[in-house]
Amino acid sequence: MRVVIRIRPPTALDEPSEEVLQFQDQTISLRDPTYASGQSDGIAANDPMRQFIFDEVLNPQATQQDVFEHVGLAICKDVLCGYNGTIMAYGQTGAGKTYTLSNQIKPDQGLIPRAVSHLFNEIDADKEYEYTILCSYMQIYQENIYDLLGKETRTALALRESPGTGVFVEDLTEYVVRSPREVMDLLTKVASS
Ligand SMILES: Nc1ncnc2c1ncn2[C@@H]1O[C@H](COP(=O)(O)OP(=O)(O)O)[C@@H](O)[C@H]1O
Ligand SMILES: [Mg+2]
Repeated sequence: MRVVIRIRPPTALDEPSEEVLQFQDQTISLRDPTYASGQSDGIAANDPMRQFIFDEVLNPQATQQDVFEHVGLAICKDVLCGYNGTIMAYGQTGAGKTYTLSNQIKPDQGLIPRAVSHLFNEIDADKEYEYTILCSYMQIYQENIYDLLGKETRTALALRESPGTGVFVEDLTEYVVRSPREVMDLLTKVASS
């Protein structure tokens, strides 16, 4: 597993504030807000800056293409070799998860449209094998799983395990998709509903 931090640029909604964040190479330093008041918990009692180290830190100038190259490309490659791959975006509301993953506005498309085009390009160029690509889309909300592509989106689905398949979501709708367009149409349909 790799953990990559993307620092987004300030948006118009961000309140201007004192700079609390510095970054260099794989390290982010945050100013401990309790330090000045003398309430620091003692982990770094004589330094107001707390340091956190990650596999990679992408600065606010990083483009969507940079994110794809640093986060998506290697996983796409592994998936085409038969390994499972997961990309998870984690962060508070407004951090940039939706923009990073799902933005469809050119030329700043997010990871999903880029990964989808990349996978189809690779598969189209492969003369040796035939591929079937299935697309499903689910939401986990308060510990329940909901099918975003199904007719019934409000009933929670069950997580099951079988010896052959491993862990799977029972009755999750899957569509066979033949082009990036078909994938993006499915996702757009959900986003607008
Ligand atoms: N790297 C970025 N560059 C430019 N704008 C960004 C970036 N990341 C996020 N934004 C903008 O910041 C706002 C919040 O991002 P969003 O993706 O909706 O956050 P989240 O899904 O984590 O709640 C949106 O208006 C989005 O367009
Ligand atoms: Mg979001």
